[in-house]
Amino acid sequence: MTKKALITGITGQDGAYLSEFLIKKGYKVYGAVRRTSSINTSRLSYIGVLDDIDLVPMDLAEITNIQRLIERVEPDEIYNLAAQSFVQTSYEQPIYTSDIDGIGVTRILETVRNLGGNPKFYQASTSEMFGKAQQSPQNENTPFYPRSPYGVAKLYSHWMTINYREAWNMFACSGILFNHESPLRGTEFVTRKISQGMAQIALKKIKKINLGNLNAERDWGFAGDYVEAMWLMLQKEKPDDYVIATGETNSVRDFAQVAAKSIDIDIEWDNEGEGEVGICKKTGNTIISIDKQYTRPSETDHLLGDASKAKDNLGWKPSINFQSLVNMMVKHDLKRIEDNNFWF
Ligand code: NAP
Ligand code: GDD
Repeated sequence: MTKKALITGITGQDGAYLSEFLIKKGYKVYGAVRRTSSINTSRLSYIGVLDDIDLVPMDLAEITNIQRLIERVEPDEIYNLAAQSFVQTSYEQPIYTSDIDGIGVTRILETVRNLGGNPKFYQASTSEMFGKAQQSPQNENTPFYPRSPYGVAKLYSHWMTINYREAWNMFACSGILFNHESPLRGTEFVTRKISQGMAQIALKKIKKINLGNLNAERDWGFAGDYVEAMWLMLQKEKPDDYVIATGETNSVRDFAQVAAKSIDIDIEWDNEGEGEVGICKKTGNTIISIDKQYTRPSETDHLLGDASKAKDNLGWKPSINFQSLVNMMVKHDLKRIEDNNFWF
């Protein structure tokens, strides 16, 4: 029988890759979208899956909506990817972020519990829960120390997912995913901001990119690899939680350096702190500078994941390394600008 998957957050980066992955596996995919004045399905169009998805209305703020939808669709698997996912915004909208990223998850869990424990449930947990990392690399046993309202809200929903598994015997898994990026990444996240900015510099549309903390280190992987891990977790006999990461960390400065290299610019760094600049060696032009508005009140300084458990139990490993990821993102942005294709 055809399996049915309900994906919340289908219009986001991971929603697009996961739906493509599940459609190829033969699933019937239902994509939950919240009401907005104009629904943004551009990522789904970009990768060519929009026509194969049944879009259904659902907002994580509204439990009656969640209940009716899950009862009607009767999915075999729910992938909860919906969230206010931008850490910076969570400092300005902590209550909204807590409601959607925290309580919103309990709304789904309660609905599934009331339906007798089916379907299987995947929760999009995050390495941001490690925050002020207590050890490096981080694995499933590393203590959490979230540093943002987003991280705190996600930690609540992470533990709720575990609690519903233990208390109500639900098949509920949490994927503790480290940062994953792609050409479909939102432009406010630092990787895409840099890849888009470098493409604009190469095509002489802008002169420089303003960034915040260049020292922050992240374990960046490719989103297309990470959605497979979500599916693998739900195919195991027993539900569990897994760290998904590449095992390599790089700073924002490194990311900018590699992205610049892919448009044939060698960066030389000068000064420190707020005065730091990245200069094009050949022309002497400043192409990176610091703007304090992009720094955070409390920062997650260093993330590096150990995905050994996923490798051993799920047979998962990443296929794209850091260098290829950066090059892929810049290449797509160059093409998009050349084609005047500014969908997202
Ligand atoms: P994203 O591109 O920002 O997508 C977020 C999705 O959530 C969008 O479809 C958005 O819909 C939807 N959404 C937001 N508020 C909602 C609400 N109130 N009701 C229903 N839908 C709502 O995020 P992503 O990068 O794909 O990440 C997917 C999930 O993984 C998120 O939960 C994120 O927190 C988590 N995560 C991401 C990473 C990463 O590095 N990408 C790492 C760890 C965990 P609109 O299009 O209408 O805004
Ligand atoms: N966005 C942004 N913009 N970040 C900047 C900038 C800038 O101009 N300059 C420096 N940074 C630094 C941030 O301070 C942070 O340390 C790092 O770059 C990464 O920022 P983001 O790309 O916004 O991602 P994030 O790590 O905060 O959050 C992402 O990864 C989490 C997993 O760890 C999001 O996808 C979250 O939803 C996800 O859970």
